Amino acid sequence: MLGLKTWLALRSRGVLGINQRNGDLVLKYNARHLYPLVDDKLITKERAMASGMRVPELYGVVSTEQGIKDLGAMLRPHADFVIKPAQGAGGDGVLVINDRFEGLYRTSGGKLLSLDDLEFHISSILSGIYSLGGHRDCAIIEYRVKPDPVFSAISFEGVPDIRIIVLRGYPVMAMLRLPTRQSHGKANLHQGAIGVGVDLATGITVGGTWHNLKIQRHPDTANPVSGVQLPYWDEFMQMASTCYELTGLGYLGVDLVLDEAQGPMILELNARPGLNIQIANDAGLMGRCRDVEQELAMRAPRVWGITPRKRVAWCKQRFAVTDQ
Ligand SMILES: Nc1ncnc2c1ncn2[C@@H]1O[C@H](COP(=O)(O)OP(=O)(O)O)[C@@H](O)[C@H]1O
Ligand SMILES: [Mg+2]
Repeated sequence: MLGLKTWLALRSRGVLGINQRNGDLVLKYNARHLYPLVDDKLITKERAMASGMRVPELYGVVSTEQGIKDLGAMLRPHADFVIKPAQGAGGDGVLVINDRFEGLYRTSGGKLLSLDDLEFHISSILSGIYSLGGHRDCAIIEYRVKPDPVFSAISFEGVPDIRIIVLRGYPVMAMLRLPTRQSHGKANLHQGAIGVGVDLATGITVGGTWHNLKIQRHPDTANPVSGVQLPYWDEFMQMASTCYELTGLGYLGVDLVLDEAQGPMILELNARPGLNIQIANDAGLMGRCRDVEQELAMRAPRVWGITPRKRVAWCKQRFAVTDQ
């Protein structure tokens, strides 16, 4: 749990609590009927591809128990891949396979699994144990993103992702999430990944948080996590901003990854993004969201003409970290 002192300090800087996030942002800006666009990763992927945005390539989908018998054939052309529940969250049920060894599959944590093990895992995914609401689900098999070397000094296995919070198309806060030994190659904070704040103006990292503690260095590599320039920063910001037009959701957490060969990609979207990003940035979301609301109120009723490029430029200037 977050220490009372840290929490009080953040409150004084306009930190957003869970009730306020739900009432003032999620319920206000996100129409319920649009949730499936982000709660189902298969739909998100199709949408993003249809509008020309890059996503990890889909290798196949298993949606029924009978379909599981085709898994071996589906995986044959691929030495590495990722299996995940279409409606999962928090990294649960995500299995990253890095390579093969003697007919077995090696996970990013180094465990060797048989085809039977993978089939069993898919059967569990179908049963819904990893999924929002516990309903029956589908298993997605997709391209394994290869992390860009820029992250090798500050992450342990797996792929870091970049979370950007977007209010009505305005990117208001960003965080780089770094896998650790404990998170088994996943970039989810609840699995033990680190969250590192990012200066929106430059894409340079500031200090980090791990298990709600403030940290300066990666626990596995001991390298400093701040002062790292994220490549393609403008492209990441533009992609995040465009997800407003893509989904119609006014309050979004956009998760992006950087593949060493294919560049920036959308990994997934979230309609109820977590609040730890505020600790990573040592800044509150409330004030930034109010700033955007005021800007939009001032420009009303001509807000539809504001392009992602203009929104990004406005946020970079408005939310720049000045004391670096
Ligand atoms: N295609 C992929 N390639 C490499 N790593 C992945 C891939 N998909 C997911 N991961 C890893 O697993 C984590 C969780 O996956 P994600 O798709 O974000 O689902 P969730 O909704 O459970 O967070 C990611 O943050 C990333 O570290
Ligand atoms: Mg995720």
